[in-house]
Amino acid sequence: MKFFVDTADTKEIRALAATGLLDGVTTNPSLVAKSGRNMLDVIAEICDVVPGPVSAEVAATEYDPIMREAAVLRRIANNVTIKVPLTPDGLRACKALSSDGAMVNVTLCFSAAQALLAAKAGATFISPFVGRLDDIGHVGMELIADIVQIYRNYDYIRTEVLVASVRSPLHVIDAAKLGAHVATLPPAVLRSLFVHPLTEKGLANFLADWAKTGQHIEELKSSAGTR
Ligand code: E4P
Repeated sequence: MKFFVDTADTKEIRALAATGLLDGVTTNPSLVAKSGRNMLDVIAEICDVVPGPVSAEVAATEYDPIMREAAVLRRIANNVTIKVPLTPDGLRACKALSSDGAMVNVTLCFSAAQALLAAKAGATFISPFVGRLDDIGHVGMELIADIVQIYRNYDYIRTEVLVASVRSPLHVIDAAKLGAHVATLPPAVLRSLFVHPLTEKGLANFLADWAKTGQHIEELKSSAGTR
């Protein structure tokens, strides 16, 4: 499973990219607004740090302006993925952009029928929002199961399921069990995947025992003097 981070905070992105485990980044208008920065600058900086797909969302809602905004965003870097809303105009733009070789992420997907349309429009990624479905009393993960199953039924569908609106490590595990291709995680959720109390406790015990030996691995010579 690929891990993207869902933020426009470049400090966070740099720190997470340093782990070597980050495959891409997603942003949206709210996240760029939160950064308080010029969108072109922030997307360019992210694209410099992360070589994988970096989603930059259009703010236009009609086909022609979407295409003009996409042209501006595509000029930033080769790894920019144009994010379009799941609307008739957004899907029309998706079809045109993907036919022209651009990566496209179709966002705000809340039904399997919408995901089918995005695949037909040649989307590189479909972004179903699990957390926002959970918020209104639906089981967001059931949508992931449906989309994964439907896409698997058709060999020609290349669209990757990008699980979005992720709120917890459980969402990540459940999505991975279902075979979703990508999860885009808020930085705090991505960091939480590293943590287990038994890992911390076990490491503390090992280090305490090791300290008692008084040894330092980098300074050691073997007893026979051969190493
Ligand atoms: C996806 O690309 C969106 O940016 C994001 O996952 C939305 O998450 P939210 O529902 O937590 O705002």
